[in-house]
Amino acid sequence: MSGDRQKTFYLETFGCQMNVHDSEKVVGTLLQEGYRQVETVEQADLILYNTCSIRDKAEQKVFHRLADYKKLQAQGKKFGVLGCVAQQEGEKIFERAPHVSLVCGSASYRNLPQMLAQLESIQTDGAQAGEPAIFETASSRSPAFSPAGRGISPTTLPRTGSLIRITGLDDRQTDACFETEFTARTNPHRGYITIIEGCDKFCAYCVVPYTRGKERSRTSDSVLAEARQMADLGYTDIQLLGQNVNSYNDPTNGGRKKRSFAELLAAVGEVSGIKRVRFTTSHPRDFGRDIVEAIDAVPTLCDHVHLPVQSGSTRMLDAMQRLYTRQQYLERIAWIKAAKRDIAITTDVIVGFPGETESDFSETLSLLEEVGYDGVFSFKYSPRPNTPALSLHDAIPDQQKARRLEVLMAKQRELQIPRNRKYVGSIVEVMVEGQNPARGQWIGRTSQNKTLNFTAAAGKFPQTGSYVTVIVTASFPNSLVGEMLQDGGCTKTAPM
Ligand code: 5AD
Ligand code: SF4
Repeated sequence: MSGDRQKTFYLETFGCQMNVHDSEKVVGTLLQEGYRQVETVEQADLILYNTCSIRDKAEQKVFHRLADYKKLQAQGKKFGVLGCVAQQEGEKIFERAPHVSLVCGSASYRNLPQMLAQLESIQTDGAQAGEPAIFETASSRSPAFSPAGRGISPTTLPRTGSLIRITGLDDRQTDACFETEFTARTNPHRGYITIIEGCDKFCAYCVVPYTRGKERSRTSDSVLAEARQMADLGYTDIQLLGQNVNSYNDPTNGGRKKRSFAELLAAVGEVSGIKRVRFTTSHPRDFGRDIVEAIDAVPTLCDHVHLPVQSGSTRMLDAMQRLYTRQQYLERIAWIKAAKRDIAITTDVIVGFPGETESDFSETLSLLEEVGYDGVFSFKYSPRPNTPALSLHDAIPDQQKARRLEVLMAKQRELQIPRNRKYVGSIVEVMVEGQNPARGQWIGRTSQNKTLNFTAAAGKFPQTGSYVTVIVTASFPNSLVGEMLQDGGCTKTAPM
């Protein structure tokens, strides 16, 4: 990585939208530091994995990747583990994968430039002097000894081999957000904006409060400035991100009145040039009626709310420490259904949480019927380190979890058939996301977040990122089919 040749990096991202967006910021930071992004591990000097630890399977993936490419260390390539597995496993990663040189959790990304500089200087100096060294940051100790939000100051530890070890592991008490002007967004039309980081909810199964730290909101002024900047660059579709956007708490707003989440949502929707605003993810306990009122009042706010329920059984919700009952959840659903607009509702469900009986599970099934979701993301419970649920008894055998998952998915699929069928004959606006040449179709997304695959008249070529009007002609459980009526930005020739 030294000499005149430009330094290169490869980055692979696992996990949620927060991780995808964090990676856009990490890429921007690396480009700013003079690195060039490459498409393959083989081309890269520095190989980074932005990891997810929400379930065990996701966590295992990164260790498989590290094992697959270990041999490339002999060519001088360096490896870094970022994100939730980095934060969760910390320095244990160096033991499990000694070829890793950098371990950095999401709360420490703002220190990446210094860490990269360290990585480079150690490589040069250490290699030249033939001296093995281990380095770490001041904030890399266990939470009990680690004060909040420190910058990094490298420390040389006892030398135990020819290892370069740099860690950025700010503990959960950090107050800092990762704000950067160098975000390298991958899509030129739709983009994410983080409004809140971390989570203070501590649901019994969830590792996020430990891996992403405590809740901290950006100022609404800063969020709005980013939205305006994106609109100026031609973005029309914005998704506000946070583990729990509903507990958004505007820090200061320069002495002016602080904005609530619903007010921020509305303000982003009113930014000139923005046509669509979404937000994810919501916690039912903090989900206010004012959000539904904002959706009704501001046309650019999309007709979609993702409201994770996790279980339809109040007994299970209590065990999961979700802070609401089935009844309270259904009240929120009633607010959404009472809106003037036809708001699509999606959710997350966990099956097989410790102690879940057949009767609890059947309450989840009945909730699916009662709500009539447009989509459900369902997961088998996966025990996670540090979480309160680890100490619960009554583990459900994997076979049982798998069966419940299958039953739930089949039920939801069945319920989605009539839900999607009701759109047949309606005329909707879609944002064009791409093309499926094999099928002669374009791929569109509706305000309700449904995929609508459509055909266009001969000679019409809708452009990606444009908005077109489509009549829905058929439906499937997971998508709609239609024909374009009006173009919002078609080219006369086929796009290359
Ligand atoms: N096991 C299974 N699913 C989980 N989720 C979070 N933690 C776990 C876990 N330990 C699911 C929840 C959450 C979604 C993002 O992931 O449903 O809403
Ligand atoms: Fe995890 Fe619960 Fe926080 Fe969501 S609200 S990130 S499930 S702890």
